[in-house]
Amino acid sequence: MDLFRKKSADQLLEAAERTGLAKKLTAIDLAALAIGSVVGTGIFVATGEGALRAGPGVIVSYIIGGITAALAAFIFAELVTMFPVAGSTYTYSYVAFGEIIAWIIGWDLLLEYLVSASAVASGWSGTFVGLLKSFGITLPEIITKPPIWGGVMDLPSILIVAFAAWILYIGVKETAISNNLIVALKIAVILLFIFIGISHVKLSNLTPFAPYGWKGIMSAAAIIFFAYIGFDAVSTAAEETKNPQKNVPLGLMMAMIVILALYITVAFVLVGMVPYKEIVPDNALPGALMSIGINWGSALVATGAVIGMISTLIITLYGQIRIFMVMARDGLLPEVFSHVHPKYRTPHINTIITSLLAAIIAGFLPLDIIIELCNIGTLSVFVLVSIGILVLRVKMPHVERKFRVPFVWIVAPLTAAFSIYLMASLPVVTWIRFGGWMLAGLLIYFAYGRYHSVLNVQK
Ligand code: ALA
Repeated sequence: MDLFRKKSADQLLEAAERTGLAKKLTAIDLAALAIGSVVGTGIFVATGEGALRAGPGVIVSYIIGGITAALAAFIFAELVTMFPVAGSTYTYSYVAFGEIIAWIIGWDLLLEYLVSASAVASGWSGTFVGLLKSFGITLPEIITKPPIWGGVMDLPSILIVAFAAWILYIGVKETAISNNLIVALKIAVILLFIFIGISHVKLSNLTPFAPYGWKGIMSAAAIIFFAYIGFDAVSTAAEETKNPQKNVPLGLMMAMIVILALYITVAFVLVGMVPYKEIVPDNALPGALMSIGINWGSALVATGAVIGMISTLIITLYGQIRIFMVMARDGLLPEVFSHVHPKYRTPHINTIITSLLAAIIAGFLPLDIIIELCNIGTLSVFVLVSIGILVLRVKMPHVERKFRVPFVWIVAPLTAAFSIYLMASLPVVTWIRFGGWMLAGLLIYFAYGRYHSVLNVQK
């Protein structure tokens, strides 16, 4: 049996036609989708953790993470315009490398989407519980902490996943409208943080700039990279986009510019405003405003963050559901994942199963472990995609690309190099967990996927 059997570009497009998702999204919807997916727990929560590891040098960590993500966004833009179908990187690698590599990438994408949805729900819960506390309401730890931290489960994170699941069950256009509003609010509170904070920046807080040296900066970069995860959610929506060849690259580029500008400014304002040792790791931005005595600003930013993180959660879950859908369409997962609801036109059963999985991870596992796993999974996808784009340029030079990465023979290897460097900055235990994860994925492929693959049946 051929482990590297491939699909053709035509097979991809045909399968997409058959599923019949509605084509309603525009470039602005997509940019909002990317910003909605990307801006979340990473900037609101993980920035504090980064600042503790790198000191003011966390600004450089954000620049390094941002360069990696921006380079990868170029690559995604080209690939999506080649194959404007749902399923993200998984789909392209089926054509470029063949089935087993596609499965491995799909399995990695579970870390990027499913596990990261759980991380966002968990970060949301922390901020929400903190906000309630500032209004004098204290929830018992037994229902707000995972077992490893002394609770029974993190109930708020389970409930917020259930809410996101309901929105997704109803359908994509409704989701896009509510997402656009939430994204506007999210950007507004970040701008509020910047405008209040900038006049409190003191140069004395910025020195020494790198108290833990380059190692500290890279170790922070390996954590805060999480803040950039999610822009490729755009590619999972390509199948539901009007004129995807034009709108996907446009939406992605708009989103990356906004995100980079916001993040680097927020990092600068945060470490300029508060001595880095005083930053509260799990409530970084609201905590910083409170420490300079602006309590109203702190409450507003926390409220915006709590609402804003919901959009991150919705879009991340949305991406995972679409990836499962495509994998099921290929026979690598049971068919039920690709059933589309007759009225809502959404993969409804898939939505329920995926949300249940995300809720279990969020409710019972601690945030730091989840974030590091997401990062290593996502970065490994970036490495494979950087190789994939070059393979496709050689093997399929004639397939139309409405967007072509300029200097691809420099940009793609550079993306891979940045990603590998960030991966190497993660702790060894994360690598071991990642190895275990990959092994489990391979076992499932050999037990199920390789027998049920549509390519197998067609033979
Ligand atoms: N980038 C997303 C976040 O920061 C996953 O929440």
